[in-house]
Amino acid sequence: MSHHNSPLARPESFDYTGVEPMQLTSGQAIEQFLNPQNVGDAAQPRFTGRATSFACGGALRISLHIDDSQHITEAKFKAAGCSVLVASASLLTSAIIGETTGEAAALGQRPEVLDHLAFSSAGGRAECATLVCEALLSAIATYSGTVRDEWNGDEVLICTCFGVSEQTIDREIREKQLLTIGEVTRECNAGAGCRSCYPLIEDIIEEVNSKW
Ligand code: FES
Repeated sequence: MSHHNSPLARPESFDYTGVEPMQLTSGQAIEQFLNPQNVGDAAQPRFTGRATSFACGGALRISLHIDDSQHITEAKFKAAGCSVLVASASLLTSAIIGETTGEAAALGQRPEVLDHLAFSSAGGRAECATLVCEALLSAIATYSGTVRDEWNGDEVLICTCFGVSEQTIDREIREKQLLTIGEVTRECNAGAGCRSCYPLIEDIIEEVNSKW
């Protein structure tokens, strides 16, 4: 018997990657207010990110468990703040389970998507979405740094989120005469996720261009 009386029956899964805000329903948001998902801590080893708002006093911690193929298998949060913050964290953690860290970080770069999908029915509160995305990006940046440090492939790994090596970035800069991180991201995706590789990309840009 799988009969649901409630109009708030939980959808099977959330996948907001590439979904435009207008396609999202307020029913999903209401569900998260009533029944937040993913509260707690991810299994060890976990990668943690925190964010605090000085404006509202809200604080959030997101922890991720990530498999060898860089997919997020568990995403959990603990929040001290308003119900909008909790719903927001619930939505985002649900959305990123099963995604790669690069895909999740790219989503985290767009708090306006989360803000719209969660709160079109609740008056909107952009700070909450921003806070949740900050915590997510910080957790992924921690992961990216660890993988980069432990990497022992033939080429030096610069962007963990999208698996881009120093050689690739170097070549793109040379061949296309790139001058900014934005241009590098456009050409080879490096930097399109958690952005923890920004200083490294900047160094390569400087180095290549100083040789000219
Ligand atoms: S390591 Fe995350 S964007 Fe490059």
